[in-house]
Amino acid sequence: MRKVLVTGGLGYIGSHTVVELQEAGYEVLIIDDLSNADLKVLAQIEKITGTLPHFEQIDLREKGKVTDFFNRNKVDGIIHFAASKAVGESVVNPLLYYENNLNSLIYLLQQCESHSIRSFIFSSSCTVYGEPDSLPITENAPVKQAISPYGNTKQISEEIIFDTCTAGLLQAISLRYFNPIGAHESGEIGELPKGTPQNLVPFITQTAAGLRRQLSVFGNDYPTPDGSCIRDYIHVVDLAKAHVIAMQRLFSEENQSNYEVFNLGTGKGSSVLEVVHAFENITGEKLNYKVVDRRPGDVIEVYADTTRANEVLGWKTEKTMEEALASAWEWEKKVRGL
Ligand code: UD1
Repeated sequence: MRKVLVTGGLGYIGSHTVVELQEAGYEVLIIDDLSNADLKVLAQIEKITGTLPHFEQIDLREKGKVTDFFNRNKVDGIIHFAASKAVGESVVNPLLYYENNLNSLIYLLQQCESHSIRSFIFSSSCTVYGEPDSLPITENAPVKQAISPYGNTKQISEEIIFDTCTAGLLQAISLRYFNPIGAHESGEIGELPKGTPQNLVPFITQTAAGLRRQLSVFGNDYPTPDGSCIRDYIHVVDLAKAHVIAMQRLFSEENQSNYEVFNLGTGKGSSVLEVVHAFENITGEKLNYKVVDRRPGDVIEVYADTTRANEVLGWKTEKTMEEALASAWEWEKKVRGL
């Protein structure tokens, strides 16, 4: 049984990926520093799959602890999620973002070299495209000047991985996510942001659950059909499955070059107001929302060209945005005891 290390494996996308890896027959090891995740998730994973993953609480900035982990554990492949991801916080505290997101990556890649681990998957973002020149966005679209330090860490990380692949034996895949939403159908795992949610869907579900008084819709004067921003919302379980396929691709040496990039989205754009109304229709909950000023740094419209992911990776989404919104609401109700 191949052993896959999932860093950030108790986080939102990480935990869903751990479940899919275990269900595909991999042995999973998790490193998480619990800075934005709860230890309870470990038991929830076991509840879904029947297998408790090996877990170690490690801050990947601690090089000695990272080295020690790899000296004690055999690993065949790594999926690297662990990173700070709040765009606004990164603007206020850029050094925290550069220190955390880049050091952790470098230390892991050094371990790949010293332990001959060749298969590496990186959690990247459509944010690397900035405001795109044309839609849908293909992987060949230029990487634009990052709007935030968070976005810049994704760009720099991709460059570090590319250079490492060029110099040595590493085979890597960067997966550029569009907007992941939703929760596992078991209701055991989902998105649980600490503090006030920065992202749209958790803010919507918390507003419907009565934790937030009102949802702010950031702008309705954008050049889009209803004036609100457009994103490509992808079900987190579909996204998680893409990681399993990408890992299999590296293990079976089907990759066409030592560094590959894939967009992970649905290919369909939805506006903020469409998401709000879809949520209301599916759940029957009335959302208290108000249109306010634009949020600085938001791009107008992004959605993926999924041709490469569909044809080369052999993956496509199976779930709809409506299913994702329904699962997010089920999760929120369960967490709040509603
Ligand atoms: C951004 C990044 C993404 C990153 C993510 C991390 C881009 C294109 N995307 O996603 O790479 O991983 O942050 O957090 O840069 N909105 C509201 N009200 C709210 C919250 C959001 O109207 O309370 C709107 C936003 O203006 C936006 C849409 O909802 O138009 C989605 O916002 P959000 O969920 O924060 O994701 P992105 O900003 O697209």
